[in-house]
Amino acid sequence: MVKSIWHLTLIIFFFLTLLRSTTPDPVYHFQQYLRIKTAHPDPDYPTAVSYLHELAKSIPNLQTRILNLHPHKPKPLLLITLPGSNPSLPSLLLNSHLDSVPAEPSKWLHPPFDAVKTDDGCIFARGAQDDKCIAIQYLEAIRNIFYKHPGFKPIRTVHICYVPDEEIGGLDGMAKFVESDEFKEMNVGFFLDEGQASTNDEYRVFYADRSPWNLVIKATGQPGHGSKMFDNSAMENLMKSVEVVSKFRENQFDLVKAGVARNSEVISANPVYLKAGIVADSSGDGKFVMNMQPSEAEAGYDVRLPPTVDPDLLKKRIADEWAPASRNMSFHIVEKGPLRDYAGRPLVTATNDSNPWWTVFKSAVEAAGGKLSKPEILASTTDARYMRVRGIPSLGFSPMKNTPILLHDHNEFLKDTIFLEGIKIYESIIKALSSFEGATP
Ligand SMILES: *[C@@H]1O[C@H](CO)[C@@H](O)[C@H](O)[C@H]1NC(C)=O
Ligand SMILES: *[C@@H]1O[C@H](CO)[C@@H](O)[C@H](O)[C@H]1NC(C)=O
Ligand SMILES: [Zn+2]
Repeated sequence: MVKSIWHLTLIIFFFLTLLRSTTPDPVYHFQQYLRIKTAHPDPDYPTAVSYLHELAKSIPNLQTRILNLHPHKPKPLLLITLPGSNPSLPSLLLNSHLDSVPAEPSKWLHPPFDAVKTDDGCIFARGAQDDKCIAIQYLEAIRNIFYKHPGFKPIRTVHICYVPDEEIGGLDGMAKFVESDEFKEMNVGFFLDEGQASTNDEYRVFYADRSPWNLVIKATGQPGHGSKMFDNSAMENLMKSVEVVSKFRENQFDLVKAGVARNSEVISANPVYLKAGIVADSSGDGKFVMNMQPSEAEAGYDVRLPPTVDPDLLKKRIADEWAPASRNMSFHIVEKGPLRDYAGRPLVTATNDSNPWWTVFKSAVEAAGGKLSKPEILASTTDARYMRVRGIPSLGFSPMKNTPILLHDHNEFLKDTIFLEGIKIYESIIKALSSFEGATP
């Protein structure tokens, strides 16, 4: 008796395993992928790459390559290719980054790497929105295309790349990939990258990123006794500037509050640190000398520029008003990203009929029953800037509608039905773009 129950259990277990491996269950694949810890500071890239590699091998017609972007560090990039019948046409590249930001488990309802699915279908995990959803959706969409139309023949080649390190700037990720021979040979004509969730019924689409600057303004001035009243101390000089920048910030923010511009369409200049004063002693208790006015003071700002802004005009404003030499001020800008492409054009992708990729993309979303909201500039940056700087049209798009925006937040989740609808949208996009034979710029 005991023995036969054991046998029965084994048979059921075997059957379930078989079922798992023959019935593609996209939501299950999504959960499995979310359970691989690719959060910084210690992302497990090899496991993520081998998981996606295996998944790709279960789908017809896909070729796979693994590139090692760094000679000494484990920074693999998985490249998947669906060859088109006319390789001379520029290809389509779909991108998903492998890494995610860290999570603080104590602030979460469910452990952030368990990918728990609640009764109402919400899958909680770090990376659920940013951006492991699209990683699986791309593959499951291609699987569905061949399941529904076994004879489907793409004309343009479609590539998918899974890149490391997007969340930490992409220097060992996309920045290295775009320099590689493999990338050059791909002749990429159009790039689709991650976007963001939308809280309503329309999908959001992003045609540009804002460019980040780290700005430090420094003031010098006469030092003096803390009791003395005198003009032009370093603190006074800095504080005058802080007021000017605050006024500028307020004016930009007013445009947003009045509904004239979106958050991502104005220049943001947010103060992130103030540094001045003379530390009292080396005890490390952070006390300052109180009877001395220091000879130096500085402030740091996170500045973000939409691509429509002329960077030289902003630099002139900083030199004239925010850190004027006449007030013994100086400044230093670390530009964290490009503002113009190789030909000197602003880093924007046209979202009108001048861009044939856009026209095909938009109708494909609509053909699958989706609706796009007005194209936006992304408030932060993504790997798409590495493409736009090469003049490759690029859109940010993650098909998540009716979903709270939770990227980098606690309790990041995505609902299974929304995830599955996203696959349908990509089926339509991939079919349409890979069948598109028209001329492209
Ligand atoms: C600038 O610094 C010089 C030298 O310390 C000082 O003589 C002058 O008054 C300062 N001017 C202002 C506007 O701070
Ligand atoms: C299309 O969009 C681009 C980029 O925003 C713009 O420069 C161009 O004038 C637009 N063309 C048309 C025909 O509207
Ligand atoms: Zn992301």
